[in-house]
Amino acid sequence: MDLQLEGKGALITGGGTGIGFGIAQALAGEGVRLALLGRRADVLEAAADKLAASGKQRPAIIVHDLTAPDAGKAIAAEAIAKLGEVDILINNAGTSDVMGIGGDEARWQHAYALRVVAPRHLAEALLPGMRQRKYGRIINIGGTFEVQAIINSASVMNAARTVYSKSLSHEVAKDGVTVNTIGPGVIISEQIDKIFPTMEAREDYCRKNIPVGYFGQPEDLAVLVAFLVSPRARYITGEVISVDGGSHKFAF
Ligand SMILES: NC(=O)c1ccc[n+]([C@@H]2O[C@H](COP(=O)([O-])OP(=O)(O)OC[C@H]3O[C@@H](n4cnc5c(N)ncnc54)[C@H](OP(=O)(O)O)[C@@H]3O)[C@@H](O)[C@H]2O)c1
Repeated sequence: MDLQLEGKGALITGGGTGIGFGIAQALAGEGVRLALLGRRADVLEAAADKLAASGKQRPAIIVHDLTAPDAGKAIAAEAIAKLGEVDILINNAGTSDVMGIGGDEARWQHAYALRVVAPRHLAEALLPGMRQRKYGRIINIGGTFEVQAIINSASVMNAARTVYSKSLSHEVAKDGVTVNTIGPGVIISEQIDKIFPTMEAREDYCRKNIPVGYFGQPEDLAVLVAFLVSPRARYITGEVISVDGGSHKFAF
């Protein structure tokens, strides 16, 4: 199937590693022009080199901390300057932070800035162009949608962003812009390597929690992103979709 993505422009936050880089590879393979964002220039350069070495167009790189004041606006302006048109925004950057009760206030604020404020500012800065061109795609990479026994700022902020995104999807629907959220289960990345450092820990977790029996690869999620950001997916918006090897326990 031709996804009709050739020549579109996409900004991927956290695009140099893990899921973000998997999405970058999938979109670059469809002819999408990319801007990859993160805080580490060397990681982004290495990712860009890897894409170029595989015959894809070398992506633009944006080095910026999403939690810095006015980061969303500054990053959107740089992405527009580098790509011309940004048709696709992938809000992927994020870290998991277990807070428990009485967790440090600064860490709560960091999670809020990273997962709610910056994505909203990015959307508000990029939406005028998308609406004008009658085409836009916003994808959030969230987390599991099931309530966890421990309070994690990432889950709380993902929930806030998902509710914002649902309302946003209604506001922009008539302008050809869709907004969707994907919930990864366990997808191999830097974060997952730290959480599950040994093969035994991985196998134990998979046996107990993942029906298909193994961790996902970034490309397992990236194929869904490639479809959702394409013109083919024009009728899918305001959705929350899991990519988790069947881990999700609820029927709906
Ligand atoms: N992998 C999973 O199984 C899983 C499960 C549930 C949810 N998720 C979510 O999926 C997303 C991607 O995760 P991943 O597993 O692929 O992790 P990862 O490889 O650690 O990627 C996180 C990315 O976010 C960037 N980032 C973090 N803080 C940033 C900041 N303040 N400003 C700009 N960039 C920032 C990092 O780049 P720099 O460090 O260079 O800034 C990195 O490229 C995250 O939102 C994560 O919570 C993943």
